[in-house]
Amino acid sequence: MMFNALILNENETGISASVDQLTLDDLPDDGDVLVDVSHSSINYKDALAVTNRGKIIRAPYPFVPGIDLVGSVIESDSGQFHPGEMVIGTGGGLGETRWGGYAGIQRVRSEWLIPLPDAFTPREAMIIGTAGLTAALSLITLEKWGVGGEGDTIVVTGATGGVGSFAVLLLSKAGYRVSASTGKNDAREYLELLGAKEVLHRDRLSGGASRPLDSAKWSGAIDTVGGKTLEAVISQTGKHGCIAACGNAGGAELHTSVFPFILRGVTLSGIDSNTCPLPLRTMAWERLASLVTSAELERMSITVTLPEIEEQSKRLLDGEVTGRTLVEI
Ligand SMILES: NC(=O)c1ccc[n+]([C@@H]2O[C@H](COP(=O)([O-])OP(=O)(O)OC[C@H]3O[C@@H](n4cnc5c(N)ncnc54)[C@H](OP(=O)(O)O)[C@@H]3O)[C@@H](O)[C@H]2O)c1
Repeated sequence: MMFNALILNENETGISASVDQLTLDDLPDDGDVLVDVSHSSINYKDALAVTNRGKIIRAPYPFVPGIDLVGSVIESDSGQFHPGEMVIGTGGGLGETRWGGYAGIQRVRSEWLIPLPDAFTPREAMIIGTAGLTAALSLITLEKWGVGGEGDTIVVTGATGGVGSFAVLLLSKAGYRVSASTGKNDAREYLELLGAKEVLHRDRLSGGASRPLDSAKWSGAIDTVGGKTLEAVISQTGKHGCIAACGNAGGAELHTSVFPFILRGVTLSGIDSNTCPLPLRTMAWERLASLVTSAELERMSITVTLPEIEEQSKRLLDGEVTGRTLVEI
């Protein structure tokens, strides 16, 4: 049986991506579930991997990237999943240390699979993908730290990105007042449709903190940008606020002071969807099912096919993509 895959190969000039045919014998043999993959998506990590602009892949080449997949089980050596069942795979090293979702068929490890929730079609599940899961985990974290008062304003940075779009949507549907920070001048209508009450230019935050404790503007934050933006957000977060730190699209370094933590009781809470334990992962998908509608998902996504992934990845890293990119395998 032959099927298509986007394959990364290492050669004298670096890493190149091409769509080629594989057989079942080409797939890794250490997974216990064989999945007929129908959709995947492009996340920031995928874009870095496909364009080789960041060190994401920690496995030998040739390599099949794609940190997300959905599809039906063809064969299973796991008692948990059975042929015909629809499953979602995200994280657990998929597309980083193990071959991922950009293939018509993939062999994966059952411990990182969850059943496709009834609320979603396979297509919708991959519009959500790792980005939506990360935003849902961030929402759950804010709630855990008690940032849930009526009218609490939460700032979302990198708001038009995949994680950012879901953060704006989920927070607004959960009753928060959302301020959306973006570098895109034409994004107001898109962000307001997602539920943002205020749209601010990212320049307001990207210069970093003007002082260790700035005037309090936010009850909390979902930060996908990191670096100086996160530094500014920490200094502007009010008493007992919480910041869910989940990204580094703008920088990985963080310089701050202890004052927001010891004088305002601010919590900086890290999010890692990749290693997120199964019960929390399941809770996040349930939360997504209760908050988002099919129409909202379609509005925030565009669809590409395997040969288009490389070009779309470059556009994503160049800041030209709004929302989520679904991959139809
Ligand atoms: N912790 C986790 O589990 C987890 C999971 C998924 C993703 N992430 C991380 O979250 C981040 C976003 O991922 P994504 O998939 O949503 O990517 P994405 O769709 O490309 O979104 C990133 C957004 O960040 C903003 N941005 C880009 N470059 C920037 C810069 N230099 N300075 C300030 N803002 C910038 C842009 O939004 P605007 O144009 O609206 O400003 C862009 O749309 C990435 O760092 C990714 O690695 C983490």
